[in-house]
Amino acid sequence: MAKKIFITRRIPAKAEEMLRAQGYEVTVSEKDGVLTRDELKAVLVASEYDAVASLLTDTLDAEIIAAMPASVKIIANYAVGYNNIDVAAAQAKGIVVTNTPDVLTSTVAEHTVALILTLASRVAEGDRFIREGKFVGWEPMLLLGTDIKGKTLGLVGAGRIGSEVASILHKGFGMDVVYCDVKQNETLEAVCGARFCATHEEVIKGADIVSIHVPLLPTTKHLINAGRLAMMKKSALLINTSRGPVVDELALVEALKNGVIRGAALDVFEFEPKVSEGLLSLPNVVVNPHLASATEETRTKMAEMVATNIIETLEGRTAPNVIK
Ligand code: GLV
Ligand code: GLV
Repeated sequence: MAKKIFITRRIPAKAEEMLRAQGYEVTVSEKDGVLTRDELKAVLVASEYDAVASLLTDTLDAEIIAAMPASVKIIANYAVGYNNIDVAAAQAKGIVVTNTPDVLTSTVAEHTVALILTLASRVAEGDRFIREGKFVGWEPMLLLGTDIKGKTLGLVGAGRIGSEVASILHKGFGMDVVYCDVKQNETLEAVCGARFCATHEEVIKGADIVSIHVPLLPTTKHLINAGRLAMMKKSALLINTSRGPVVDELALVEALKNGVIRGAALDVFEFEPKVSEGLLSLPNVVVNPHLASATEETRTKMAEMVATNIIETLEGRTAPNVIK
C-alpha cells in the first residue's frame, strides 16, 4: 500500500513532486489558511498517515500528538524553528521530528540586515512620508538616520543565522561584534573578531544594534524584558527575526514610547499574527509579516528538505535533519 503523506498547507510544489515520485500518496490541506486546532486534530485522526509535513503555524502539542494514529512515523516541520512541536511527546511515541536548517541561513541573515538598514536609514519612514504627500523638497534636517559603520553589533544567540548576520555586517560595514550564546563560537571569533560575553547583559549594554537569534524555549521567553531594555543604550536599535515571545512586546512598546531605546525592527511578534497596537502607532518601528526566509529559492529548498526528511525516514534511513 502506498505510504500516505499529509501536508498541512500548500508549500512549493517541489515537496509534493518528490514525494509522489517516490510513489507516495500526498494530501495537501485544501484550506488556504492555518488549520484550527480542531481541524488539525480531526484531519490527523481521520486517516492513517505515515508522515505529516507541518508549518510553524501548526501547534502540535502533546494532546494532538497523542491523538495521532500509530502509523505516523515523522513530523517534518517546514521551518528551522520547531517550538510549535512538543518534540519530547513525539519522541516518546517513536515519531521522528525534523526541521529545515542551513538552507535558510543566508536568506534570514539577509533579511535581518535589510531590517537593520531600513531602521537605521529610516527607509520605511521616508517611504511613508512621500506616500502621505509630505515631500516638498530636500531639507537639511529631514528624517536623520544613524550610521552603522564601525558601530557594535550585539548578537543574542550566535548559531548559524546570528553568525551569518555578523559576517555580513563585519565584512561589509566594519561592525565590531559582541555575542552571547550557550556556547562559545570560535569560528565567529576567528571570522569577525567577535568577543564572547558571559552574560546577556554585557551584550545588551555594549551594543548599538542588538539582534536576536535564539530559538524560543522556556529559558528564552521574554529574554528581552523591561529590565534588559533599560540596560540598552538610548541610541540602540533592537532587531528580532527569531520568535516573537523572546521579546516582552508590551515592555518594548513602553521602551520605544519613552525613548528608552531608539527603534526596533520586528519580523516576528509575541501574539502573532496579532501585532501590539502600540507598535503600529510608533514611527521608529519597522514591522514585517514573518518573512525572513521568504525567497523563492529558499522556500523551494525548504520544501525539498521536508520531502527528503520524509523519504529518508519512511525508507528506513536516518533523515538528515532529525531533532535530537
Ligand atoms: C521561520 O521562522 C523558521 O523557523 O523557519
Ligand atoms: C538557526 O538556524 C540558527 O542556528 O540560528
